[in-house]
Amino acid sequence: MLPVVAFVAFWVLLGLGLFFIAIRGGIGGARATLQTQSRRGRKAAGTIFAIVYAGFGVALPIVFLVGNHANASSQYAGVKLTAGEKQGRELFGEHCAVCHTLGAANANGKVGPNLDMLRPPESLVLHTIENGCLQNPPSDAPDACLGQGTMPPGLVQGRDAQNVAAFVAKVAGQA
Ligand code: HEC
Repeated sequence: MLPVVAFVAFWVLLGLGLFFIAIRGGIGGARATLQTQSRRGRKAAGTIFAIVYAGFGVALPIVFLVGNHANASSQYAGVKLTAGEKQGRELFGEHCAVCHTLGAANANGKVGPNLDMLRPPESLVLHTIENGCLQNPPSDAPDACLGQGTMPPGLVQGRDAQNVAAFVAKVAGQA
């Protein structure tokens, strides 16, 4: 919010400056007006100009760039990630991406199902991480999945598993 206000203020000030030049009859007129001021007055004006220039020309762009960078890593397709979900994204890259496709994690694995298509709820992801999948288990076994292959259990555990599940459930299919 603050950068936006500052940005608007910058253009308003610029506009006022141009307006001042215009009503004094162009650059020459404006200079004539300024020259009637004392030398100290002009020096002060120069200093103020330098400060404003440094502020808007250098400081603001840096604020914007830093702000955008922070946003880039905490957002995906307009979805905001919590700190835990961001960690989940990293863990997904390390432990799941080899087998699964998930756009939000830049993952293109082809062994398991495409999670962007499957869009599994958080509880299913967590259940699958904890129990894994067997190809042909009895259908009531905890490690029964889609029946398309085998996924090892316990690739990530505890808090890490929760973060991965929260991340997958939030971003799957958002690409
Ligand atoms: C070695 C490859 C491999 C890895 C690594 C892997 N998976 Fe899987 N995953 C599979 C396969 C294969 C299936 C399909 C199993 C089936 O259909 O029975 C699957 C299925 C799933 C399912 C769907 C389960 C269902 O019942 O529909 C989810 C969700 C899932 N994986 C999440 C993950 C997550 C999260 C990770 C990382 C912690 C991960 N997988 C790591 C191979 C893998």
